[in-house]
This record gives sequence, C-alpha cells and structure tokens, in this order.
Amino acid sequence: MRRAVCPGSFDPVTNGHLDVIGRAASRYDELVVAVLVNDAKQGLFSVSERIELLTAATAGWDNVVVDSFTGLLVDYCTARGVDTVLKGIRASADFDYELQMAQMNRELAGIETVFLPANPAHSYLSSSLVKQVARFGGDVRRFVPESVHVRLVEKVATRD
Ligand code: PNS
Repeated sequence: MRRAVCPGSFDPVTNGHLDVIGRAASRYDELVVAVLVNDAKQGLFSVSERIELLTAATAGWDNVVVDSFTGLLVDYCTARGVDTVLKGIRASADFDYELQMAQMNRELAGIETVFLPANPAHSYLSSSLVKQVARFGGDVRRFVPESVHVRLVEKVATRD
C-alpha cells in the first residue's frame, strides 16, 4: 500500500493546499494530511478548527485522512508506518528550506520527501497572505474553500 504524509500548519487550508492534496491523493492509496501542533506558535485557528476545516474540504477524497502531530515529523511518520512525506513547492523560495528539511528527515529516519510543484494558478497563495488580506477586509473568497471563507470572516471580525 502506497502511503504518504502531507504535513503542514494549515492555518487555514487554502485552495493551493487542496490542489496539492488532490493531486497527491490520486497517486497514493492513502494520504495522511497532518497538522502540526505547535505550542510555541499561536495560530489564528486552533488545531481542532484546522482539522475540522481540512476534514470538510477533503471529504471528496475517500483516501485522505486528516490528523495532527506533535514533535518531530519523522517520529510521527515512523509511528504511522509511513516512509514518504509529500510537500508542495510553490516557488524557488520554498525550495531551499524544503530541501534542507527533506535531507534532515532522510538523515534522521530514512524518510523520503516527494515534492509536487504547485499549480501556477495558486503559486502566490499562502495561509499567511490570505489571513493578512482578510484582516484588512479584502475578499479572500477565491483563495479558500467556502467553509474556510465563512470562518475566516467571522474570526477576523471578532478578533480586532
Ligand atoms: O505549513 P508549514 O508551516 O510550512 O509546515 C512546516 C512543517 C510542519 C512541515 C515543519 O515545520 C515540520 O515538519 N515540523 C515538525 C517538527 C520537525 O520535524 N522539525 C524538523 C524538520 S527537519
């Protein structure tokens, strides 16, 4: 069985993430989308909200599983019996850091990383930029699933 873990912060999931998840889901028997629990960094959405939004957004792929993890990604992969990490690459700016992490993860535990190039239509998208645009009242509807859009608008309205 071909399985891969697609890790990330997903704060929140964007259409760019979903493009990569969908393309990866068609190439693996099971794709585990794993949300990092990072106590050192407060996100806009809690981990349970991110999982809820990801679960709704990936409901159309029956081989996609949404989960969360703490600590090292390689320990999570090893515990799940998965030896492949799947990451999307938007631009060359992503590549240097992603390459470093991929090499570290292979060195630590023999976990290989497969990179999928982002669809150019989404290559400028990031969760951070979407949150920034939403905070200042910009329309982010076309960058995220509708369920995320609704929650994002609520969040930024109650936060400031
Ligand atoms: O969506 P992001 O923030 O780009 O995802 C980064 C993530 C979660 C993939 C990365 O920070 C990670 O793997 N963190 C877990 C801790 C870890 O294993 N660190 C060593 C990486 S070599």
